[in-house]
Amino acid sequence: MSFLWKEEYATGILPVDMEHKVLFSITGLLADAIRDGTDQQAIHDFINQLIEYIERHFAREEEIFSASEYPDFEAHMKLHRDIERTMHNIAERYETDPSAVSSKELLRFLEVWLSQHIMGTDMKYVPFVMESDAARAAAG
Ligand SMILES: [Fe+2]
Ligand SMILES: [Fe+2]
Repeated sequence: MSFLWKEEYATGILPVDMEHKVLFSITGLLADAIRDGTDQQAIHDFINQLIEYIERHFAREEEIFSASEYPDFEAHMKLHRDIERTMHNIAERYETDPSAVSSKELLRFLEVWLSQHIMGTDMKYVPFVMESDAARAAAG
């Protein structure tokens, strides 16, 4: 899969879409570095950059959808925590021993998290945010 953001991934919620674009671009840079496989420092840095940005984005997203009537907010937050935990686990293992994390495992995780989360799970809160004045205000 390519890690390029496409119009069909748009939620219509401006800050969310801006952050998703950045997540796609960091993930794309990380995927390129993994495929190339030569620069372990770059892979390490992109993993940490991605974790930092993911955590910021999840916090922002939770602030927005919690202000709406979105009924699955708890399950969604749990998925966010799961992704964060997996990313931290990958980062720790990579730091200890880069060969302990296979590029296939990492690429597969990135693919799944982008395709299932951003294009699947995230889309479910969109109608609730759109119809909530408080949630739209939280989105700025
Ligand atoms: Fe998201
Ligand atoms: Fe999300």
